[in-house]
Amino acid sequence: MTIQVFRGEILSVARDPALDPEAALHHADGLLVVEDGIIVDRGDHADLAERYAGVPVERIEGLIVPGFIDAHVHYPQMDRIAAHGEQLLDWLERHIFPAEAAFADPGHAHAVAGPFLDELLRHGTTSALVFATVHAHSVDALFEAALARNMRIHAGKVLMDLGPPDLCDTAQAAREESEALIRAWRGRGRLGYAVTPRFALTSSDEQLAVAGDLLARHPDVLLHTHLSENVRECAEVAARFPEASDYLDAYDRFGLVGARSVFAHGIHLSDRECARLAETGAGIAVCPSSNLFLGSGFFDFARAGAHGVRLGLGSDIGAGTSFSVLHTSGLAYQAGLAGGYRLDPFRALWLATAGGAELLHVGDKVGALAIGQEADFVVLDSGATSLLARRTAGAPLAERLFALQVLGDDRAVSRTYVMGRRAWDRDSARFEFFGG
Ligand code: GUN
Ligand code: FE
Repeated sequence: MTIQVFRGEILSVARDPALDPEAALHHADGLLVVEDGIIVDRGDHADLAERYAGVPVERIEGLIVPGFIDAHVHYPQMDRIAAHGEQLLDWLERHIFPAEAAFADPGHAHAVAGPFLDELLRHGTTSALVFATVHAHSVDALFEAALARNMRIHAGKVLMDLGPPDLCDTAQAAREESEALIRAWRGRGRLGYAVTPRFALTSSDEQLAVAGDLLARHPDVLLHTHLSENVRECAEVAARFPEASDYLDAYDRFGLVGARSVFAHGIHLSDRECARLAETGAGIAVCPSSNLFLGSGFFDFARAGAHGVRLGLGSDIGAGTSFSVLHTSGLAYQAGLAGGYRLDPFRALWLATAGGAELLHVGDKVGALAIGQEADFVVLDSGATSLLARRTAGAPLAERLFALQVLGDDRAVSRTYVMGRRAWDRDSARFEFFGG
């Protein structure tokens, strides 16, 4: 039994502030008490100091917030960030499919998986929902590396039987390989499986039905795919599924829309689709960096909010250009404003933490620094750059937080803790690994 006491400024937002204005919990001088990786106490130093008088205290300089949750990211695309020139479908064909084909080599998958997870930790991300490639061993490589870092990672083999032949499986292989991966990895470390059809255009009807069947058979797995990202993509989906009332309905007909479904993007959704998402409990990973980079458009926060659609944030590396969920939350503000919606900094933090955790069905375990939750947290340094320091000096909390979102990135993450253990330390530039 190991008790750790961290003392510093602590902030978390457990519930959507749009629904509960009292959702932010802030201690200007607080204690976070961790026992065997789990938060067992939290409060003002003045109230708790006596209770933990005999325990050595780790002083934290900076703002302690929950570890970030990246609700949509592609690990095989990290070396294709900043591929110049095209919108979604051309970009996939020209830059992404060739990069993913290289993962046919298991050695390549192993060579990328570790550095990818390190990059997440360096940016303060402790949990993520991750696309692998069509190759089953790409999932093994990622899960092995996640286990070594004790990170909370959901991932799955990509299902795609339409597209470039060197990157395609079949409906049968999709079923067999997904089943084998679920069996092999279920219950290990902090890992979770996600059935991952790439998107409607790269799976046959038969394969989409397999995905629905996998979801029905395994109540503990997520469904992870793309939805309504790009105008040309939406037109091609409408042409391919003439019987479907809209893009979401194309998935719905195969049993892919439910409380465990996470759809990336949702840029061009109708009111009917938002209502259906909310009714089923399905959610959207909002990816503003990617949406800007590929010219896809701006997420409509007001419409989604009016229907009560569940939301989180995704970096969508490699269409997104930053691993930083903090920075992505600042871009979400900018994308929101382009659509007439002003994203509050506390709601932005909620999206980056507890909102994403709920989307991934791990809201009981992480995201709010609540008692009983796993102690995944990040230390934000508002003096990380001279500009940040000038902008935040003496400023009230909301203004400091907003400046961190707009001006901050990995430089502002001075430490990342995974279950109470320091996994990344910026100032010594060190990762510390430990088996899970
Ligand atoms: N739609 C289908 N595949 C992809 C992908 O790899 N990235 C993005 N951004 N959208 C997709
Ligand atoms: Fe994506």
